[in-house]
Amino acid sequence: MISTDLIIQNAHIITVSARGEIANGCIAIKDEIIIDIFEGENKDYHSETVIDANGKLVIPGFVDCHTHLVHAGSRANELQYRLQGMSYQEIQQKGGGIHASVRDTRAAAVEELYQQSLERAKLCIKHGTTTAEIKSGYGLEPATEKKMLEVIHRINDESDLETVATFLGPHVYPQDREPEAYLDWLLHEGLELAKEQAEFVDIYCDVGAYSYADTEKFLKAAKAKGISLKIHSGQFEALGATGLAADLSVVSADHLDHVTEAEFDAMLRAGTVPVFLPGCSYYLKTAYPDARPYLDAGMPVALATDYNPGTCPSLSIPMMMSLAVMHMGFTPDEALTAVTLNAAKALKQDHLIGSLEKGKQADILICEIGELDDIIAMFGVNAVSTVVKKGLLI
Ligand code: NIG
Ligand code: FE
Repeated sequence: MISTDLIIQNAHIITVSARGEIANGCIAIKDEIIIDIFEGENKDYHSETVIDANGKLVIPGFVDCHTHLVHAGSRANELQYRLQGMSYQEIQQKGGGIHASVRDTRAAAVEELYQQSLERAKLCIKHGTTTAEIKSGYGLEPATEKKMLEVIHRINDESDLETVATFLGPHVYPQDREPEAYLDWLLHEGLELAKEQAEFVDIYCDVGAYSYADTEKFLKAAKAKGISLKIHSGQFEALGATGLAADLSVVSADHLDHVTEAEFDAMLRAGTVPVFLPGCSYYLKTAYPDARPYLDAGMPVALATDYNPGTCPSLSIPMMMSLAVMHMGFTPDEALTAVTLNAAKALKQDHLIGSLEKGKQADILICEIGELDDIIAMFGVNAVSTVVKKGLLI
């Protein structure tokens, strides 16, 4: 018998790999890694810890590839404003929206920011997210941008949630300093900070956020420094930045509610990962984009929460899967791939996570249900009962 750290047996496994489903399968884990995954009874492996899944669904840990998890304060008050008819942009123009989170995040001591963010990280894990990308961007000045990156790394080091840091210094233009001076900082010291402290840089190009011209400057400068790129584009209008970003080889383009045909073609050519964020459509009551053309074209379509205090205060990946199937043309299998393997591609982590295969990191969910369809059907219910992160039961 081969000694292992953990065995999960009698499981209905969806591997999210070429191997597909295993009706009655077993996974053997040692030193954080899946060392074997096979159909039928276990005769070869021994462990002190054996979990009988009782035929329940076993899937890869969710990868939330777009979040703003680190911020201080709440913007729950904005719901009332929007229900009275104010738009997201109007709230922002009146000093609310992103600017309210900027004020709260600047004012919070680093320990306070960490504790508030840690509570959210724990909720992510409970809902099955084992890796989350987290962006800076509620600083809009150097010290707070650094503080946010420090907290993102601390969550990775001290909690069960693995994090990938993205520098989103150009989230919106700051209200209390010269936009040109801030842009100058972004293009020089900001990009140096990103190179040291982040895996990606990102910029929000839309009405009420960065212009096409500044987006072009920023992405080109980041690319010249060899930093991997992401973009927020096409949430409210197609300003052309999705096509520009694809031509500059961004790893992912996120939001994509408004995309021109030429931009779609540019993404297809470049192999960009399209990341859809249905929680924003739900919470802002805007139309859901149709993902079917992207899926039919064979693009590696991903889904994420965009967790943030203003446009999607939910961090439930299962809820996003349900919205994507009911409103955006995904099948349940496509939705699962979108929040695991394709989300890992959006983070350049698909060699390590996102599927259940020999040699991959043991990030595994055991659900309280037997079939994938149940995740979609039971919207609003958390069906994840057991989370395994790097081979450890959480
Ligand atoms: O996703 N894209 C639009 N909204 C921002 C949300 C940030 C916020 O409102 O706090 C984003 O980056
Ligand atoms: Fe976002």
